[in-house]
Amino acid sequence: MTDQKAPPAALLHLRAVAKTFPNGTEALAPVDLAMAGGEFVSLLGPSGCGKSTLLRIIAGLTEPSSGTVELPDEHRRAFVFQDPTLLPWRTVDRNARLLLELEGVPKAERLERASAALKMVGLAGFEKSYPRNLSGGMRMRLSLARALALRPKFFLMDEPFSALDEITRESLQDELLRIWGSEGFTSVFVTHNLYEAIYLSHRVVVMSPRPGRIERIFEIPFEYPRSPELRSTPEFSALGAEVAACLREVSR
Ligand SMILES: Nc1ncnc2c1ncn2[C@@H]1O[C@H](COP(=O)(O)OP(=O)(O)OP(=O)(O)O)[C@@H](O)[C@H]1O
Ligand SMILES: [Mg+2]
Repeated sequence: MTDQKAPPAALLHLRAVAKTFPNGTEALAPVDLAMAGGEFVSLLGPSGCGKSTLLRIIAGLTEPSSGTVELPDEHRRAFVFQDPTLLPWRTVDRNARLLLELEGVPKAERLERASAALKMVGLAGFEKSYPRNLSGGMRMRLSLARALALRPKFFLMDEPFSALDEITRESLQDELLRIWGSEGFTSVFVTHNLYEAIYLSHRVVVMSPRPGRIERIFEIPFEYPRSPELRSTPEFSALGAEVAACLREVSR
C-alpha cells in the first residue's frame, strides 16, 4: 500500500533510515523515500510519530541509528523551525545576515544577499526594526529570509506557520510557493495541517504513530502555480477528506 517508487533522477535518497534514541525511544522505523530535485514534499502524521526526527536527519542535525541518507554535498540545506528564534537585540537586517556571518560570507555579499532575501519575503522597509516590533507573521517572514539568504538547494521546514492565524498562514503559504517557484529549491515541510500539506506539495507523506514509518503517499494532482481559489474547489475538499480519513485510520 505504500508507494515508495523513486521519482526519476532522485536527488535525496533515504534508505531504511531508522532512529532509536539513547534512552531507548524508538522514534523511527525504517523509512525509504526518494525525492526529485525541485520537489515539494510534506510530512503529516500524529504528534510524536517522528516527523521532526526525520527532518533533522535529512538536515544532517541528527544521525540515524541505521540506514543511509544520500544527498549531494553541494546541496546546501537550510532549516526553519516552528519558533522563529530571532536575536532580539539585532535589527531585522542584522538578523537576516546572521547565518551568512556564521558561514564567513564576505561583508558586501552578506549585505546584498540579506537585502534580497528581505525583499523576497516582503520585509523591505523594515530593516532597522527590532523583532519585538514585528507581528508574528513578520517574524516568521524574517526567519524565512534568514534561511533564504543562504541560497539553499534544500529547504527543510518544521511546522513554520503553526503559530500563525489562518489568514496570515494562508498568505505565507502563497508567498512560500512563489519563492519556491522562483528559487527552485527542493522542500520538505512538516505540518499538522493537512490542507496546508495538500496546498503546498507535490506529494504528502502520511506517517504512522511512533515508531514512525511511511503509511501512505498521496500524489497531489493540482498544477503549479497554485492560486488561493484552489482551496475552495470541490477537488481540493475531496482530497482533504481522503487524507483526513487516512490520518484517522493510521491514528487508530
Ligand atoms: N533527543 C531525544 N531523546 C529521546 N527521545 C526523543 C528525542 N527527540 C525526540 N524524541 C522522541 O521521539 C519521538 C518522535 O519525536 P519527534 O519530535 O520526531 O515527533 P514529531 O512527529 O515531530 O511530533 P510533533 O508533531 O509533536 O512535533 C517522540 O516520542 C519523542 O519523545
Ligand atoms: Mg515535531
